[in-house]
Amino acid sequence: MKITTSGALLGPADLIAVGMPEGGALPVAIDHAFGGDLSAVLEDEKFKGKSGTTVSVRGLSHIPAKWLLIVGTGKGEAEDLRHAAGAAASFARDKGLTTARLSLASDHAESQAEALLAGNYRFDRYQPEDQRKAPLETVTLVDGGPGVESGLALGVARNLARNLVNGPAEDINPQTLAAEAEKMASGCMQVTVWDYEKLQAEGMGGVAAVGRGSSRKPVFAHMVYTPSGAPAGEVALVGKGVTFDAGGLSIKSSSGMMDMRCDMGGAGAVLGVMSALEALNVQVKVHGIFAAAENMLGPNAYKLGDVLTMRNGKKVEIHNTDAEGRLLLADCLSYASELDGVSHIVDLATLTGAAVVALGEHWTACYSNEDSFAKQLCAAAERGGEGFWHMPLEKLYKDKLKGDMAAIKNVGDRWGGSITAALFLENFVAEGKTWAHLDIAGPAFLSSKERHLVKGATGAGVPGLLAWLCGWV
Ligand code: BES
Ligand code: MN
Ligand code: ZN
Repeated sequence: MKITTSGALLGPADLIAVGMPEGGALPVAIDHAFGGDLSAVLEDEKFKGKSGTTVSVRGLSHIPAKWLLIVGTGKGEAEDLRHAAGAAASFARDKGLTTARLSLASDHAESQAEALLAGNYRFDRYQPEDQRKAPLETVTLVDGGPGVESGLALGVARNLARNLVNGPAEDINPQTLAAEAEKMASGCMQVTVWDYEKLQAEGMGGVAAVGRGSSRKPVFAHMVYTPSGAPAGEVALVGKGVTFDAGGLSIKSSSGMMDMRCDMGGAGAVLGVMSALEALNVQVKVHGIFAAAENMLGPNAYKLGDVLTMRNGKKVEIHNTDAEGRLLLADCLSYASELDGVSHIVDLATLTGAAVVALGEHWTACYSNEDSFAKQLCAAAERGGEGFWHMPLEKLYKDKLKGDMAAIKNVGDRWGGSITAALFLENFVAEGKTWAHLDIAGPAFLSSKERHLVKGATGAGVPGLLAWLCGWV
């Protein structure tokens, strides 16, 4: 998508979209072009300008466009403009409109640009060609404003993550995910990939166990982004990359397994974030780390009652092979903890159904060993346009993870499953590192559309983490 920032509103385009704030009025030029008839339409539709609500009208001979879209811009805040631009882009995609002129607001161009890409996104590559609608090619933001370039970079990053998560597990498997990391190598991005033999030799007992039941063996990837100037800080992002979660021997039900190609959403988000750092001129050194595996039931699958030795030497007793994500993450967190310069570690994972039960599909569960850091991430998420909710890392529940043979087992009991998962992970973070865990099981993959995001992958974590990194200095 190409976005330009100046031009006439009433120029030729497939779509002309104009904003109307809550309690406000239509732009005079548009009202005039339709001979004053539009107010009656808006009244009919009970349109009040709420953010993201729309009324569409054929352009006919009134304007040089096929469609006029009137979009509510609510109170005119960044979030309102995001929803408005997203709604316009989604409308355009459903109609296959390829050129648009937008006059929504003269500010928040970054949010508008990001949302144009997010709202225009469809995962339709497997649809018959005649069913696919063309994406927007050129958009003119009539009111201009700075931030379009960064908004585009944010949108592209998020849609990259969405493509990886939506992709069938046959296409997106440990090997292809590692190849995605390798593709990222550049002057400022160094990439290392470990295969099964290497990661075993490196003591990654969790990753090796989870992945060994599949004919496709697990991989580990480490990307390092180094900014052009002296780094203002150094952080590590860690993603869960289970490219398909059948549950292993603790097999899932068919319906519980249906969407489990989404279980690499954490790794997808890490790849999305890494892909945008240079374009966004992030001044922090960022390590992007993930392990990828298929959690399958083969003759070599790991078993209940097994005791694994993890990278940091701790032993873990397996009580449920479907609690596999934390085993991958554990080794990656140990690895990240070994990076001396790293002060902050953030992991992202589609980790527990319990997080979805607790918070639904909008909110990411955010845990941290430092409350102030959790608050900082939640605030960044809000700026980026997603929801992180600060959850308690309740020490009282640690007892639930006591093993029979080993000090820790990989699952707690029925209650507080998202919290006990976070407590499990904490065992693998070194003292002195500020750490946060984001359980994105709910928002990573929507079962039905949410605002301008179609159902399926959302790129959860990408906007929030990029907002955090961009706000570092
Ligand atoms: N990948 C799942 C969690 C999940 C559930 C992600 C729903 C997205 C949507 C994870 O590996 C899992 O199976 N977790 C188990 C843990 C349990 C065995 C302690 C769960 O949540 O049931
Ligand atoms: Mn599982
Ligand atoms: Zn899983």
